Amino acid sequence: VNRGTTAHPIKERRDSPMTAALFPVHPDRFRGESDPVKRPKEFACFSYDQEHRFRLDDSSLKWYYPPTLGADLSKGFEDFIKHDDSIDEHLDSLLATIAHHEKETGKPIDAHVVTWRGMMAKIMAVPFEPRDGFEMNATLYRGTIFIEENHGFKRGQEELKQFYKNPIPMEVMSFWGYKFETLSTLPAPWGETSREYIESRDTQVVNNKEQYCSVVRTGLGKSILCLGGEVDAIWDSKPDPPGATTNWVELKTTAELIKETDMDNFENKVMKWWIQSFLLGVPKIIAGFRSRDGILVSTQEIATIDIPNMVKQRNRARWDGNVCINFASAFLEWLRQIITDEGVWRVRYSRRAAHIEVFRIEEVGHGSIITEEFMNWRIKL
Ligand code: A3P
Ligand code: MG
Ligand code: MG
Repeated sequence: VNRGTTAHPIKERRDSPMTAALFPVHPDRFRGESDPVKRPKEFACFSYDQEHRFRLDDSSLKWYYPPTLGADLSKGFEDFIKHDDSIDEHLDSLLATIAHHEKETGKPIDAHVVTWRGMMAKIMAVPFEPRDGFEMNATLYRGTIFIEENHGFKRGQEELKQFYKNPIPMEVMSFWGYKFETLSTLPAPWGETSREYIESRDTQVVNNKEQYCSVVRTGLGKSILCLGGEVDAIWDSKPDPPGATTNWVELKTTAELIKETDMDNFENKVMKWWIQSFLLGVPKIIAGFRSRDGILVSTQEIATIDIPNMVKQRNRARWDGNVCINFASAFLEWLRQIITDEGVWRVRYSRRAAHIEVFRIEEVGHGSIITEEFMNWRIKL
C-alpha cells in the first residue's frame, strides 16, 4: 500500500492480511498549551419528528424550563416511545442537511472531516477513557473525510453491557435520562406555553424519537470539522442575526454525590459532558442529581467552560482538557495523511490498547458512508 512519505509506524497486522497504520495514544505526548480551537458555529440544523421522520427545520427544538424536584424518573417507563437503534442510519441526515445547505450557498462546505459529534467525542476521550473501545468507518470523498460509526460493533458492545448485574435494569436507567429531558423542557418558549402544559410535564409520554440536531463548523488544530449532533434544549432563543453564541443547554442526569468516591466517578463523567458540549459549542449543562432509585433530588447549572478547571482544582491528575484537544487535533492531522485514497477505512480502538489502528477494508468506493443522493448532488456542483 502506497502511503506516500509518512514517518508513521506501519506494522503488519497478525489477524488481518492488511497493513494497519498506528496512532500512539500515550497522553503525555499531548500535554501543554492547547492547539487553536475554533468556536463552533451552527450553519444548518434538522429535526426528527415524533416518528423519527427527517425534517429540514428546527421543529423539534425544545426550551429549557426548570423541572419540579422530587419527581420519580421511572414514572412512565411502560409508555416510553423508544427509538429503534438497531437500524444503521449512517450519516444520511447529516449529508442531506449539508447538501441542502450547499444548494442554498452554491458551494461545497470547506470541512476536512465530516462526522457525528459522538464520533469526535469518542476520539477526544481516548487519552483518559481507555476502557471504551470503538470502531468507525471512514472514506475520502472529494477532499473530505467522512466518518461513520461501525454500527455492527456498537451493537455488540451494548449486548456485552447487558451482562453486568444491576439492581435496576439498564433500560430503566437509560429511560431516566429521557424522562429528565421531558421534565425539563417545553416545546415552545415559556411565554407561549400554557401553565397546564408546564404542570403536566410529569405525565407527558416520553419519546426519544424526536430530536433537534445542530450542524456546526468548527476547528481543532489545523483541521476544519463539520459536526452534527443532538442539542437537548435552548435557554432563550437563537441569536438574531446569527453568529453570536447560542444559549444551548445540555441536560444530564447523574447519581447524587454522597461519598468521596462518588466525586471521583463524577469527575470522570463530567469529562464526557465537557467533551460532548465543547464540540458543539453548548455553553451550559443542567445536571439533574437523582437518588440511587431514580428520584430527582436537585439540579445544578454548570458552565461547560468551567469544567476542566473545576476538576483540576480537586485532582490535577484526573484528566486534562488540553490533552483531549491536542490528542484529537494530532489524530485528525495524522488521519488526513493516511486516508488519501479511494476505498473504505476502519478506524479501530480496542480498550486499553496503546494505539488507534487505521486500515483499509474496501479498496474502492465509499461503502455505505456516502448516500447516492449526496453523490448525485455533488456531481452537479
Ligand atoms: P443521561 O445522560 O442523563 O443519562 P444525552 O445526554 O446525550 O442527551 O442523552 C440523553 C439520554 O440518552 C441519556 O441521559 C441516557 O439516558 C440515554 N443514553 C445516551 N447514551 C446512552 C448509552 N450509550 N446507553 C444508554 N443510554 C444512553
Ligand atoms: Mg441529548
Ligand atoms: Mg442530554
